[in-house]
Amino acid sequence: MHPHHSLALIATSDVMRSILGRIDTIATSDSSVLLIGETGVGKELIAEYIHRTGPRSDKPLVKVGLSALPPELLESELFGHERGAYTSAASEKKGLFELADTGSIFLDDIDDFPIALQAKLLRVLESREVMRVGGTTPIPIDVRLITATKVDLKELVNRGVFRSDLYYRINVVPLVIPPLRERKDDIPPIIHHFLQRYAPDKQINVAGDALRTLVDYSWPGNIRELRNVVQRMALFADGEIQLKDLPPEVREDAPLDMIAKACQRCFTEENMTFDQVVACLETNLLRQALREANGNRTHAAKALGMSLSTLRDKLKKHNIE
Ligand SMILES: Nc1ncnc2c1ncn2[C@@H]1O[C@H](COP(=O)(O)OP(=O)(O)OP(=O)(O)O)[C@@H](O)[C@H]1O
Ligand SMILES: [Mg+2]
Repeated sequence: MHPHHSLALIATSDVMRSILGRIDTIATSDSSVLLIGETGVGKELIAEYIHRTGPRSDKPLVKVGLSALPPELLESELFGHERGAYTSAASEKKGLFELADTGSIFLDDIDDFPIALQAKLLRVLESREVMRVGGTTPIPIDVRLITATKVDLKELVNRGVFRSDLYYRINVVPLVIPPLRERKDDIPPIIHHFLQRYAPDKQINVAGDALRTLVDYSWPGNIRELRNVVQRMALFADGEIQLKDLPPEVREDAPLDMIAKACQRCFTEENMTFDQVVACLETNLLRQALREANGNRTHAAKALGMSLSTLRDKLKKHNIE
């Protein structure tokens, strides 16, 4: 099987296709890549893709979750130790860098890398040699570095918790992976993909309004959250997934989310008076209710819990058609 296929990285949106295009260019090189993006956007999957499409594809890819490793174990995990380096070190141990030799190493949550060890990491990357804890002879290593972060490393540099020299060393090729809500074209094909994965024997469709709601939802947990929702729905669905089959957070978030976005101006602009903020909020609530009611004022008024004449007054006041 072609190695890409087992990875199943769906990229339909323009932005993801252009990212994949960039990856195909850089994968063949050996440059360090920094993946930046919210939780669940696919950083780990993309790290695998970069490794698998590059010249080291048949060599190991070693993944290191830095947020999961206790700092006191990190040094010997990464760089190994010699026998007797600690009282507990009964035998020598290879570090993860040595295990990744000739392949790639993926350092996930690099922002969690302890400042005390950053100089050592930089030295390893620059010299292409590791020194085990308690060791005296440097060991040559040849690894491709892929890192990932959820937070802005530049800001950590400014706050003095991340070394700027290390930052420049890992940030050779930065790739920003946008959240799912900024590439909604990917949502339908990803839903389809997960339906096939989790219910290969069922022929499941998604009704039009259910699909629209899934696309509208803001997906704060990104593709991981979408995967879990589809997995759950695939379990219970037979035939067609309806609006009522969607989890409540998905059904309820959509209109609120749109209002929140539309009102962002109110909250971020400095010179707005209280009355202006209230007017902005009111305008957006009215617009949303009308949209949901397909322009039917009687239905919109009912949804808002006000009389038709109150709705009319408010629409007039805010100049809403
Ligand atoms: N483009 C994609 N197509 C198909 N599946 C995807 C895609 N992107 C991510 N996934 C799937 O979504 C899930 C989450 O992805 P992944 O673990 O790579 O995210 P992450 O950015 O590393 O998240 P975190 O920051 O929380 O570690 C995985 O099951 C992954 O296979
Ligand atoms: Mg991850």
